[in-house]
Amino acid sequence: MNILFLGDVVARSGRDAVISYLPQIKKQYSADFTIINGENSAHGKGITSKIYRQLKEAGADVITLGNHTFSKSEIIGNFSQCPDMIRPANLEPADIGKPYIIRECRGRRIAVVNLLGTVFMDIAAGDPVTAMNSLLQEIDADIIIVDLHAEATSEKQVFYHIFRSRVTAVIGTHTHVQTADEQVTDGCAYITDAGMCGPFDSILGRDTDEVIRRMVYREQTRFTPSDKPAVICGILIRTDDATNRCISAERIQIRPEMRV
Ligand SMILES: [Fe+2]
Ligand SMILES: [Fe+2]
Repeated sequence: MNILFLGDVVARSGRDAVISYLPQIKKQYSADFTIINGENSAHGKGITSKIYRQLKEAGADVITLGNHTFSKSEIIGNFSQCPDMIRPANLEPADIGKPYIIRECRGRRIAVVNLLGTVFMDIAAGDPVTAMNSLLQEIDADIIIVDLHAEATSEKQVFYHIFRSRVTAVIGTHTHVQTADEQVTDGCAYITDAGMCGPFDSILGRDTDEVIRRMVYREQTRFTPSDKPAVICGILIRTDDATNRCISAERIQIRPEMRV
């Protein structure tokens, strides 16, 4: 089984790149199942039901989110129209959307779990380890993929070491910068951050000039998303059909100039 995961889609630039290029990536990597983090897909913060549909039509099987889950008010009343979208389990309010999903693919049940980190993140309600332990009590699946949306590398590594014998992949998101530490240990894949699908010549997807004015001159700026062409970042997880354990993890990073 080949499972493709793409990191945080950022604004129009990231959306356009993913929507137009995803079919080609899926073909190139023979992806059976595709997970996309859409937490920044609507103008850099949150997602809308329209963008959910666009990502689904482009080929996403499951959409995950993060700290910006509820940033767009439109989505709050429309989660029920987005059946393949999940929100972090340890994020309040807990009664909007679902914290995990199980979908069948090639005769296997794939669970996708979304969690928030707590270190340098002030929005999480409860720690991800406690939340994951309780989710594992109820999840009945052959393959379990965790999108751990967190800032600190240490917290992501701690989570991986605790759960790697019980899940298939722990994929970090949120920092928007892809890390080069992909690995497979005990049949479980890990990467600290999958990276973003968003404007490459930017600061974490935001307009460079605005971020500089904010950080250097303390101007109150809006952190407008950059409109520069997007890099597409993610990871391909391969599992053994006999054991359902992970056998390889391959980083994907397609910079704007590499797209044809
Ligand atoms: Fe985030
Ligand atoms: Fe993000």
